[in-house]
Amino acid sequence: MNRVVAADAAGLRRAAELLRQESVCAFPTETVYGLGAHAFSARAVAAVYRLKHRPSWNPLIVHVATAAEAEALAHEWPPAARLLAEHFWPGPLSLVVERAHHLPALGGPSTVAIRVPAHPVALALLRECGLPLAAPSANRSESISPTTADHVIRSLPDVPLVLDGGACRLGIESTVVDVTVSPPRLLRPGALSLRAIRDVVGPLQLSRPSGSSGQLSRPAGSSGQLSHPAGDAPEVRSPGLAHRHYAPRARLLLVDDPATLAEGSDPGTVGILTHLPAAAEGVHVELLSADPLEYGADLYAALHRLDDAGVATILAQDPPPGDDWLAIRDRLTRASAQ
Ligand code: TXA
Ligand code: MG
Repeated sequence: MNRVVAADAAGLRRAAELLRQESVCAFPTETVYGLGAHAFSARAVAAVYRLKHRPSWNPLIVHVATAAEAEALAHEWPPAARLLAEHFWPGPLSLVVERAHHLPALGGPSTVAIRVPAHPVALALLRECGLPLAAPSANRSESISPTTADHVIRSLPDVPLVLDGGACRLGIESTVVDVTVSPPRLLRPGALSLRAIRDVVGPLQLSRPSGSSGQLSRPAGSSGQLSHPAGDAPEVRSPGLAHRHYAPRARLLLVDDPATLAEGSDPGTVGILTHLPAAAEGVHVELLSADPLEYGADLYAALHRLDDAGVATILAQDPPPGDDWLAIRDRLTRASAQ
C-alpha cells in the first residue's frame, strides 16, 4: 500500500487509526513535518525514538488542538503561558511548562513542551484521532528537517505512513520558550520572532549561544543510544540544542565570500548556498531570497537539493546580523558543526 497519502478524509482516517493503534505517522505542520505518536503511549513513543535514531535524553514536543488541552497537560499554567498562547496559538511556538503529575515523562525531567500547530491538516488529524501527539521533526536524528512528504520518506524509509500536505509554509521549526522561569527563557530560536514574543511578555532570557563557555553539547558517547538511563542525561536546559544538528550529508562551511572560495574547485564537488547573487562556474548555486522569511521557508529544501546534487562541500554565505535572521543563523551554525 502507498505510504504517502493525500490528507483527505480517507487519509486522515487511516492516519488516526494507526495512531490509535499506538503506531506512528508523519504529518505536515506549518513549520516542518512531524513524526506523530500518541504522546502517552510508551510503545508509540518508543517507535518514534527508534525510527529517528533519536537519543533517549532528547524530549519530544506534544501537539494538541487547543490551548485548553495544553493547559490540561500542565501542572502550572503561568501568566506568560496564557499570554503567549492567546497571541500565538495556533502557531510556531512551543511552550515548556511543568508537566501535570499524572502524566508519564516524555524524556524531560518534570517539564513538557507543548504547542498548537497552525496547519489545517495537523489540526484535522489531532481532532480525528482525539489524542495528544508527540511529534518531533520527521527526520533521522541530526539530519535536515523535512519540509515535504518526499523528504520524510527519504530520511525515514521505514515510516509507516506520511500524510501529504505539500510544502511547509514556514520551513523552520517552532520557537521554544521555557515559561517555568521568569522572565521566560528562549530555548530554541525558530519561526516565531523574538520581537513578536517580547512585544507580548517583555524581556526574555537568552540561552548562551553555542560555542560560548556555556555551550550546550551532546553528552559523550550517547548519540543514538536508546537505552540511555535518564540519570545520564546531559546538563542542558533544552537537550535538543546538541551542537551538531540540521546537518546535510555534505560538509557545510559558513563563509563570507563563497564564490571566490569555490573558484578552481573540481566541478560538481562544491555547492553554494546564498542570498546574494553569486556566479561560480561549474558550481551548483542555491540562490535563496534575501528576505529571511522566504529564505527560511526554502532553506531545508535547498540543503536537500545540494545533497541530491552530490556535492561534498557546501559553502554557505554568512547570513546577515539581526533578530530576523536569528533562527537561520542558528540552524546554519549547527549544520556546520563537526
Ligand atoms: O516546529 C516544530 O517544533 C516541529 C514540528 C513537528 O512541530 N517539531 C520539532 O521537534 O522541531 P523536535 O523534537 O525536532 O525538537 C524539539 C525541541 C528539541 O530541541 C527538544 O530538546 C526541545 O524541543 N524540548 C522538547 N521538550 C522539552 C522540554 N521538556 N524541555 C526543554 N526542551 C524541550
Ligand atoms: Mg528535530
